[in-house]
Amino acid sequence: MKVDGQPYRTIWLSADGKSVSVIDQTLLPHLFKTVEWRTVEDVVAGIRNMVVRGAPLIGAAAGYGIALAMAVDPSDKAFERAYEILFASRPTAVNLRWALDRMRSVLLPLGPNRRAEAAFATAKIIADEDVENCSAIGEHGKGLIQQAWENAQRSRPVNVLTHCNAGWLATVDWGTALAPIYKAFDAGIPVHVWVDETRPRNQGASLTAWELGHHGVPHTVIVDNAGGHLMQHGQVDLCIVGSDRTTAGGDVCNKIGTYLKALAAHDNRVPFYVALPVSTIDWTIDDGVKSIPIETRAPEEVTVISGLSGDGKIGSVRLTPEGSPAMNYAFDVTPRRFVTGLVTEFGVFPPLPEEMAKLRQEAALGTGSHPPSHDR
Ligand code: MRU
Repeated sequence: MKVDGQPYRTIWLSADGKSVSVIDQTLLPHLFKTVEWRTVEDVVAGIRNMVVRGAPLIGAAAGYGIALAMAVDPSDKAFERAYEILFASRPTAVNLRWALDRMRSVLLPLGPNRRAEAAFATAKIIADEDVENCSAIGEHGKGLIQQAWENAQRSRPVNVLTHCNAGWLATVDWGTALAPIYKAFDAGIPVHVWVDETRPRNQGASLTAWELGHHGVPHTVIVDNAGGHLMQHGQVDLCIVGSDRTTAGGDVCNKIGTYLKALAAHDNRVPFYVALPVSTIDWTIDDGVKSIPIETRAPEEVTVISGLSGDGKIGSVRLTPEGSPAMNYAFDVTPRRFVTGLVTEFGVFPPLPEEMAKLRQEAALGTGSHPPSHDR
């Protein structure tokens, strides 16, 4: 996507061919800055500190992390160490494990002297495929927004509610939940987005609003608790969110607060869609509430908030009384019964056993994005 007219991805190999560049997401929306990673340790710190975040981008970053490690030492031992420290950087988004396993399956059968080159090539393939897959997700999801527009007799913009940031900043490009919005907007379908601010780290208020604003998409930031009220009053046509890990049965883990939005959507008969590449599906587990590891982060993310002050400086202020403990669960699980459909690169699939089996089969046969053959 473009930033002030210049096309950007969120991650790319730097011109020197030896380091990896990323957009520093901790500084947005106040400052647009790129940083360079030179070592696998830089990548681990960047994922942990959320310089990059979002499940598909974490996966792509892990691929490049392995490549940087292989450039220094291509031995089996160095690979396993890089795998371990990257794997431990964040626990919930399954794309991390997916990308690391893919790097392992390509690299370990090769002799060490061929590994560095193959690692950079494979990391680039992972990134390029993510762009294709997200673009395909956008095409499939665009149909849902188009349908909502037809349902409203084309009389008004379609109102979409989203949570957190599942836009291009959370992937390599396009995004998952926001890709259908960009595609619909670019096709001339009038769309307006309700952006949940997404406490405590405010990925909605700072990243989604920034992205949508740069693309010219009409949007309004709301506090996290406003969504239910809007749904009760007919002001949301559909919800589209992303996912960090979705189970084989269709339970969806996403940013904390997603579950409450799904409950409100269910109560108000608002369709609730989850947009995700198949690399976000963990086919090894079925029950998301029981099996998905939920990251807990530092309590300071709850007690302290950062922002731009009147004098143009980025700073932090404390919100809570000294001594009040805080708990910071980063994700929750929405049971499949509240999910209308999974919008994937292979089409839209309701989370029903026979549909999940079909999706799994299509994913096993295919290698990338697919034409919109499976929309329903
Ligand atoms: O903690 P984050 O910012 O990494 O969480 C991101 C999300 O929850 C996104 O919704 C999810 O990764 C989908 S990204 C396309």
